[in-house]
Amino acid sequence: MATEAGSERTSLPSYALNGAAHDEQRAAPRPSQVGPLPDRIRHRFPIFERRLYINSCSQGALSDSVRASYEAYLRDWDEKGAPWEYWVERTEAARAAFAGLVNASPDEVAVTTSLSAGVSALASGLRFGRRSKVVLTDWEFPTVGQIWHAQEARGARVVHVPAADDGSIPFEHFERAIDDDTLLVSITHVCYRNGALVDVEKIVKLAHDRGALVLLDAYQSAGSMPLDVRALDVDFLGAGVLKYLLGSAGLAFLYAKRELVERVWPTATGWFADENIFAMDHTDYSPAPTASRFQSGTPPVPSIYAGIAGIQLMQEIGVAETREHVQELNSRLIEGLDELRATIVTPRRPKRRGALICVKSTEVETLVAALEREGIVTSSRDGNLRISAHAYNSTQDIDDLLAALARQRKLLA
Ligand SMILES: Cc1ncc(COP(=O)(O)O)c(C=O)c1O
Repeated sequence: MATEAGSERTSLPSYALNGAAHDEQRAAPRPSQVGPLPDRIRHRFPIFERRLYINSCSQGALSDSVRASYEAYLRDWDEKGAPWEYWVERTEAARAAFAGLVNASPDEVAVTTSLSAGVSALASGLRFGRRSKVVLTDWEFPTVGQIWHAQEARGARVVHVPAADDGSIPFEHFERAIDDDTLLVSITHVCYRNGALVDVEKIVKLAHDRGALVLLDAYQSAGSMPLDVRALDVDFLGAGVLKYLLGSAGLAFLYAKRELVERVWPTATGWFADENIFAMDHTDYSPAPTASRFQSGTPPVPSIYAGIAGIQLMQEIGVAETREHVQELNSRLIEGLDELRATIVTPRRPKRRGALICVKSTEVETLVAALEREGIVTSSRDGNLRISAHAYNSTQDIDDLLAALARQRKLLA
């Protein structure tokens, strides 16, 4: 497959580019730019004709433009055969779209198939020498913990920053864990289990003062709040498009600060990490001088079509406005939950929470199923009900959900 894809690229007629660009115009209906959220965009997400969808921490709702992007992919494949030159160009468009979203430059962004793939490539390129310690928190997604523990076979020492009894992670816990032996601090922006938002800047400053690097897992924040890698000053950041970026499975990104890129020598690699993928040279390893060195094999083309459409749609909707809108919805939700005397696991201060609100349940799977029967889609983790609003959710959704929870009050702890 590798050889075929490579040889097709050089012989591609130029119609492929023009044709595909034309298709894309057809594939991307634009949201109307006026009016408050969610009214101006909700009609773009057909699921709301059938269900109250409030589960974007698992997966964003399917929009008309993401659906159209898949149709465009199939059409391009059908009409043009193997338009690899265009598909590689689409990969660059995805890279640029994510770079724009997080205020990075495209050469600081790797296009990967999952957050795990990007973080694994990064981990494989680090040397655990004089500094051998990796500090991570109890709030990490399993994949992140597993990848760092896998590095123990290569000399890494993994230390966990524990959460306190109330579920928070006090700053002193970071102060105790990060020291002169620490190579990297791995933190999650918004915890997938409790919706807590870490104070990234404060932790980054501490880590940098002690000579350590910082990796931020932004999967649960990307698309739900503005992200700026320069302002946050993180060294590496990973995120995928499945959730608040409205794409689908199979596409993620790893940002690496420009001055660090060439200091990491990934050994988990592939031909799309090479300095010249078209050289097709199997006789050496010369990784790209850019963040592309964290890539691997053939890019996930269908997911790239969808990811570009999702990111574009989120940017047109407005990430900052979405954050404000969801904060308002969540304040209403928390008020209603308090009236029901429910136990909210997510921090109450708006600055310390993401889009996700978690509520304790006595039997969470039964509760999720009961809501599902009422046409309300939520999810669960750790005995908590997860409610995650996005740009398309309305105050009516919150009121309908609260009414359903009142009917299921016995399942709330
Ligand atoms: C915080 C966080 N990190 C990572 C992931 C998944 O990463 P991957 O793309 O490797 O499956 C998720 C998905 O649920 C997540 O919520």
